[in-house]
Amino acid sequence: METPYTDHLTVDDYEQVYEPAEDTFLLLDALEADIPYIRKIKPLICLEIGSGSGVIVTALAKQLTETFCMASDINAHACRTTLRTAKRNGTHVDTINCNLLDCVREKCIDLLVFNPPYVVTTDDEMKNQSFAESQVSSNLVYSWAGGKYGRRVIDELLIRLDGILSTKGVLYLLALRENKPDKLISELYTLGFMAIKFLERRIPGEYLYVIKVTRK
Ligand SMILES: C[S@@+](CC[C@H](N)C(=O)[O-])C[C@H]1O[C@@H](n2cnc3c(N)ncnc32)[C@H](O)[C@@H]1O
Repeated sequence: METPYTDHLTVDDYEQVYEPAEDTFLLLDALEADIPYIRKIKPLICLEIGSGSGVIVTALAKQLTETFCMASDINAHACRTTLRTAKRNGTHVDTINCNLLDCVREKCIDLLVFNPPYVVTTDDEMKNQSFAESQVSSNLVYSWAGGKYGRRVIDELLIRLDGILSTKGVLYLLALRENKPDKLISELYTLGFMAIKFLERRIPGEYLYVIKVTRK
């Protein structure tokens, strides 16, 4: 998969939107490596939660021309940036400014992708985070602050996963070693899913995983 062009994005954009980094590129690498599987399940609807600059969902939209690709982000500027990135790369992505999966119909997502805010922080650093607050603040804290074990947003997704993923659906989730990926995998099993560490990479100061999740 080609990495989308980002030359339309400016320093001002990156003051409000997460700049693609090693975690972004690990997720892109995982999706590229698994593109034969993704094509095989013939995804009708793809959703990237938290699209930020939009490079991941844009790369998918370029590859999966038969798939309706959309992105959600709690940060309205990220939604606008994602639209621009898709356009710059000659494709289209629909965006929804919402928390996680709000506004999405039950059990309809075939391909779900999320690079969540995974950094371990105190819950105090997250306590003012809400959809309403995100609309009045350009604070990038939403991009990275994950609360206890960096799991607050991830755990919210897990609870709602059964309600959103289609029967053939697959989720690719970025996680950090501190997020306790083995525990995450066994919790997913209890919730009715199979999960594996699909790709992992050490980067300066962090050890990252892409967890691939399907229904049992
Ligand atoms: C680590 S950044 C990843 C951005 C981009 N996907 C990438 O890989 O470069 C996390 C993104 O998730 C968004 N986000 C955080 N909490 C969210 C939530 N509850 N619902 C939707 N988006 C959220 C942030 O605004 C941010 O754009």
